[in-house]
Amino acid sequence: MVAERGKFTNKLGFILAAAGSAVGLGNIWKFPFEVGLGGGAAFVVMYLVFCFLLCFPVMVTEIAIGRKTRKNPVGAFTSLGFKNWRFIGVFGVLAGVLILSFYNVIAGWAFGFFFEMVTGNFSVSKHFGDFTSDLVKVGTYAVIFMSATGFFVGRGVSGGIEKLSKILMPTLIIMIVIIAAYTLTLPNAFEGIKFYLIPDLNEITINTIGGALRQAFFSLSLGMGTLITYGSYLSKNDNVISSAAYITLADVSIAFVAGLMIFPLVAFINQGDMSTVASDQAGPGLIFITMPRAFETLGPNLGAFVGGTFFLLLSFAALTSTVSLLEVPTAYIVDEWGVSRKKAVLIASIIIFLVGLPSMLANGASDFFSNQFKIAGSSDFLSLVSKITDSMLLLGGMCIVIFAAHIWKKEQLNEELSNGYEGFKKKLVSKYLNFTISYVSPIILGILFVIVVLSEFFGVNVYNYLSILF
Ligand code: TRP
Repeated sequence: MVAERGKFTNKLGFILAAAGSAVGLGNIWKFPFEVGLGGGAAFVVMYLVFCFLLCFPVMVTEIAIGRKTRKNPVGAFTSLGFKNWRFIGVFGVLAGVLILSFYNVIAGWAFGFFFEMVTGNFSVSKHFGDFTSDLVKVGTYAVIFMSATGFFVGRGVSGGIEKLSKILMPTLIIMIVIIAAYTLTLPNAFEGIKFYLIPDLNEITINTIGGALRQAFFSLSLGMGTLITYGSYLSKNDNVISSAAYITLADVSIAFVAGLMIFPLVAFINQGDMSTVASDQAGPGLIFITMPRAFETLGPNLGAFVGGTFFLLLSFAALTSTVSLLEVPTAYIVDEWGVSRKKAVLIASIIIFLVGLPSMLANGASDFFSNQFKIAGSSDFLSLVSKITDSMLLLGGMCIVIFAAHIWKKEQLNEELSNGYEGFKKKLVSKYLNFTISYVSPIILGILFVIVVLSEFFGVNVYNYLSILF
């Protein structure tokens, strides 16, 4: 069993794999539409604050727990001697299964759109509903995507996950910068940039704040033990703090550039009118509907090329993320059940695929799963699962920091973080981390978790209550 556990070859390999996990549909598909819904730049400001001040310490903590124990999220807590806290890991593995079950479906759409674009079928955006309700199509792409994910996870940590990320991450960065540079030159691009970057502070409501925190957690792959798992393959000689800083920076920068790529395009299509974005264009369809329309204006050949490149990019970004999501249950099965990696991959993939079936039916293929799930302000199964898992991540993140600061104890954490970072305990960053994970992160995460659950699932408008109180 011990021989089964892989290792990243070096720090760069770890950073690219973890950044590959972080950078995904969350950055390119979800971030722009959340910005659109959340009122533009005000959301962006909150998001940045959360990533650096609140999420960075959670990331460091997760990596440290993983590296200390060299275990999957469930085994990690047992191995530290706190069997009762294993529930955090169990909860994390479950969250991973649920997230991947729907994430894989959307990744399949992205991959499908790659084929639609290269064959010049731009009209697919006008019939987006027809595409998503075609179960055979959606199902086939989901099978392909899940198989590719399983293939790379099956090849192991350095031979599969790391190699894939080392090729895809640099490619992705080059592609996204080129496309952004192009969209910035379009007519009316500036209107899009204004919407994206000039905050209207009146737009900051409790919903913007909750939404920005959820987005930050999802985008950085926090709260379910992905980074406990990846940390378990990291060498003791590597610096956890600087690695986490690079991962955060990479994730935030790519989300930011994705916004620079998309909002000028939206402004171009709307001829500069951004007032309808929040009501009409934001939402999961944003990039699947808006982007192809823009590619179409480039003419058949250039459009097919740029469009194909864009959706290939999106699929690449998604693949390094699905790989990280599958790695969590796989590591759990390998460590705890003593099964070989390949078998573990097969078991996990099949379960996740089956759990994802309702999500495949949730955008038109079945009326029941598409329209009858009127829970928590969502009408379809996929959005519901996405909302549930968002809250699970906040709760998981809160439990992880409380555990590290008050149960496992900070001295132990600091000891682990000193490996690969000489003199860490005397540095300012150590004081900052200790303070945040002890008090700031648990309190803010706790409060926002309650607010998010009350408003998302019970329709309580917390904002109104707060204004009555103060
Ligand atoms: N962060 C990825 C994205 O932005 C998705 C992801 C991968 C994820 N692993 C995760 C989200 C773990 C939450 C938890 O697309």
